[in-house]
Amino acid sequence: MPDRRISIHDLRRMKQRGDKITMVTCYDHATAQIIDSVGIEMILIGDSLGMVMLGHDSTLQVTLDMLVHHTKAVSRAAHRALVVMDLPFGTYSAADLPLSLASARRAIAEGGAQAVKIEGGRRMAPVIGTLVASGIPVMGHIGLTPQSIHMIGGYRVQGRGTEAGDRLVKAALKLEEAGAFAVVLECVPAALARRISTELTVPTIGIGAGPCCDGQVQVLHDMLGLVDDFQPRHAKRYAHLAPLIREALEGYRGEVRSGTFPAPEHAFDMDDLLEDTERPVPNP
Ligand code: KIV
Repeated sequence: MPDRRISIHDLRRMKQRGDKITMVTCYDHATAQIIDSVGIEMILIGDSLGMVMLGHDSTLQVTLDMLVHHTKAVSRAAHRALVVMDLPFGTYSAADLPLSLASARRAIAEGGAQAVKIEGGRRMAPVIGTLVASGIPVMGHIGLTPQSIHMIGGYRVQGRGTEAGDRLVKAALKLEEAGAFAVVLECVPAALARRISTELTVPTIGIGAGPCCDGQVQVLHDMLGLVDDFQPRHAKRYAHLAPLIREALEGYRGEVRSGTFPAPEHAFDMDDLLEDTERPVPNP
């Protein structure tokens, strides 16, 4: 991997070589530093933020201001990964290309992202064309598109059956033709995702779309087990942090109550020669 920021051209080369691409969501600075340090190729400031960070029951309540705010925090930490910001519901449309361009400009110029992601099939081609013509890389997103949840009628697998499958293949090709540098396939049958991945020259990034996509994206909270009571079928828990965090907080509460924290090393003497409030980090 290059010792510089990943570009959309690197991603296409990875597809050509058959190297799988990884992408995760992230919404804050500290976590972005960790993600960037392990070589994940793309960080997505997804509008899933509304659900996993803010407790909404859908992504529809997320605003452009919210996503730009969190993208700034992530961008300040991510020096190697390609930073992609979701454009939220109502901030882009084929019926309002100036609005779409203004929203995407904020993601890049204010947020510090290198690309944006928009949801929708063929009808999004003019939006993609406009943004790409303005120098803004765009990632498409088809299949289960949570911003259209009221049109779809629920969080359901998309593209089942010949007709629906063919429609998604055509949509993916249309997005590529319009200039998308990659396409997210969410919750579509694995065989259909394989077909789309073969037909497209740009990478497909799957979530609930089986192993044949050119890359995978996961919502960080799902893969780290931060949410106890919800586990989507397409997510794998690589860690279960919720109990560990609970245990740490219980330890802290117990030590404060028993008087064992803070210990002398956490406090300052009157005659301390060191004025510094920091201490060396044990295991950076
Ligand atoms: O908002 C998000 O996290 C996403 C991913 C599920 C692809 O769009």
